[in-house]
Amino acid sequence: MASVTRAVFGELPSGGGTVEKFQLQSDLLRVDIISWGCTITALEVKDRQGRASDVVLGFAELEGYLQKQPYFGAVIGRVANRIAKGTFKVDGKEYHLAINKEPNSLHGGVRGFDKVLWTPWVLSNGVQFSRVSPDGEEGYPGELKVWVTYTLDGGELVVNYRAQASQATPVNLTNHSYFNLAGQGSPNIYGHEVTIEADTYLPVDETLIPIGEVAPVQGTAFDLRKPVELGKHLQDFQLNGFDHNFCLKGSKEKHFCARVHHAASGRVLEVYTTQPGVQFYTGNFLDGTLKGKNGAVYPKHSGFCLETQNWPDAVNQPHFPPVLLRPGEEYDHTTWFKFSVA
Ligand code: BGC
Repeated sequence: MASVTRAVFGELPSGGGTVEKFQLQSDLLRVDIISWGCTITALEVKDRQGRASDVVLGFAELEGYLQKQPYFGAVIGRVANRIAKGTFKVDGKEYHLAINKEPNSLHGGVRGFDKVLWTPWVLSNGVQFSRVSPDGEEGYPGELKVWVTYTLDGGELVVNYRAQASQATPVNLTNHSYFNLAGQGSPNIYGHEVTIEADTYLPVDETLIPIGEVAPVQGTAFDLRKPVELGKHLQDFQLNGFDHNFCLKGSKEKHFCARVHHAASGRVLEVYTTQPGVQFYTGNFLDGTLKGKNGAVYPKHSGFCLETQNWPDAVNQPHFPPVLLRPGEEYDHTTWFKFSVA
């Protein structure tokens, strides 16, 4: 059983509309989601002693989400992750997107799905958001109808993404929550033990575009098939952090993606998905300059993202899983964030 309440979160400047907040609550979880960018703004999870903490980074007020900030909690689209040089071809025609992370296009462009107001629809156990991305939005071909549905089921937050296109277009939707299972505002994620169900990953160039190779994790820092303690692991391998796509073992059906355990609090996050990949990002670009909830500042490595998705730059790399959605087809992916204690 879950309950859903609805309230005003804030007003967009210049009559841009009212942003609403939806609070979903079950016995085990409480999650706040706003209609701006379908953004998760808070997620309260109990620890071993039954004490609830908010485990996602974010802002108390709408202004926080309107400033330049690294996609805290938002839904990313039309194409999450990077497209090399913001250029691709569909059926012989070349398209050019805005370059918002030199020299590439990142997370849907200058005004991606995270920076728009969605239309909400309250469900008995969640909330559905929809919008129509117009033909040519951010340079993408055709109109795209999109539905993002969040539902709560006990300790599980389920996110379903559906889309239909009027022309063939790449589509890759994800949620960009930054988690810290010690409680948001905790200084780092080093005490988290991470497991990712991937035999291969995608090595990248200096602009973080996959070089095309699907490399075995065996014998590398990317072998997370058995739990590693993040702080120690980064140190052992002299890594600045992760910002890589892991190629998941599972097929199109629901499969296990990752598990993160924070031993001190006992909190566990398990992620399942229908997607072929996950971008594991350890907040390498966080720099402590943002003012977060409850006076938190978010330094480097103070949150991690598990962005379930298709592989980055798939539209330009024919041997990656297909990313084009054609008229008459339906894009339909689901990710499960399952919380427990151990
Ligand atoms: C990307 C990072 C980027 C971050 C925030 C992640 O999905 O992989 O490179 O800095 O999003 O923009």
